[in-house]
Amino acid sequence: MLGRLNHVAMVVSDLDAAIHTYEHTLGAIVSQPQALPEHGVTVVFVDLPNTRIELLYPLGDGSPVSKFLEKHTDGGLHHLCIEVDDIEAASLDLRNKGARVLGDGKPKIGAHGNPVLFLHPKDFHGCLIELEQI
Ligand code: CO
Repeated sequence: MLGRLNHVAMVVSDLDAAIHTYEHTLGAIVSQPQALPEHGVTVVFVDLPNTRIELLYPLGDGSPVSKFLEKHTDGGLHHLCIEVDDIEAASLDLRNKGARVLGDGKPKIGAHGNPVLFLHPKDFHGCLIELEQI
């Protein structure tokens, strides 16, 4: 079912400071910030040779990452995103095995224009997993 690691996502408490750190301290290639109101976040991607790091910052009221920042005030690791060929088939298979898909269970369009869904961290040993159809 699983393909490549697409990205590792970090929630950051100061987006400008995080961009500066990745761009200048670490010398990475960093994308322009992209507002995703449907997901309640602004995202920035850091390109690495084998994957990407997604920096997430709250956007608007009730952002899902605001709650994360209340608990982890310095920010921290938020989720792993793994590629799948067929997200509907993956969702059905996982739900048949008792895993919980967050939200209404239907894929949403993610930051790259591809369908994504999130799996409940309690079913995956404390790790929030995003599946993205590539
Ligand atoms: Co992600």
